Amino acid sequence: MILVVFLGWLLAFPAMALPSKTDEDYKNFSKTCKNIGVDSSYVSAECLDISGLHSKNQTLDLDMCVGIDYTSLDLTWAIYGKMSGYCGHCQLDLDQPEGPILSCTCAWSGSKANSTLTLDDGIGNNNGTLSCNGGAGMPTIG
Ligand SMILES: *[C@@H]1O[C@H](CO)[C@@H](O)[C@H](O)[C@H]1NC(C)=O
Ligand SMILES: *[C@@H]1O[C@H](CO)[C@@H](O)[C@H](O)[C@H]1NC(C)=O
Ligand SMILES: *[C@@H]1O[C@H](CO)[C@@H](O)[C@H](O)[C@H]1NC(C)=O
Ligand SMILES: *[C@@H]1O[C@H](CO)[C@@H](O)[C@H](O)[C@H]1NC(C)=O
Repeated sequence: MILVVFLGWLLAFPAMALPSKTDEDYKNFSKTCKNIGVDSSYVSAECLDISGLHSKNQTLDLDMCVGIDYTSLDLTWAIYGKMSGYCGHCQLDLDQPEGPILSCTCAWSGSKANSTLTLDDGIGNNNGTLSCNGGAGMPTIG
């Protein structure tokens, strides 16, 4: 009985399924955002919404989507990677053709290294809001 009701509900409201995001939705934020900055693990930027008219200062906590590779100490995209637990002294290089490059000093298990990450590889502008896989723009289930 419950199953029948559930199936009936699904058939009655097929249009309610939310669009799911793809990896491409989490890229190239720097092309539509300006005044990009970083403060420890927080990236901020002023990002245009879909209308192309409005932009406001947004922040994204990279702890939600960036961690380190424990072997190389490289910064790497990882859901709830908590990079601030391993890395500090982060800076942004805004003068590279591939977009803003984050560079930090990371340490793990007695080793230390300077690591970089190309932010456009994993951060998108979602209608004016910064999002990355596992972070503010966690893919919608459904
Ligand atoms: C992001 O930018 C790169 C380099 O300009 C380009 O090759 C790629 O197709 C872009 N991806 C998206 C989803 O816009
Ligand atoms: C955006 O907000 C962040 C966090 O409050 C701040 O550090 C940054 O300076 C602001 N950026 C601009 C362009 O106002
Ligand atoms: C990281 O880079 C800074 C500045 O270039 C340098 O002083 C430091 O020695 C480097 N640290 C490591 C662990 O390579
Ligand atoms: C985009 O964001 C604006 C507000 O910034 C909102 O009015 C609009 O409905 C949003 N559009 C979509 C497609 O989410």
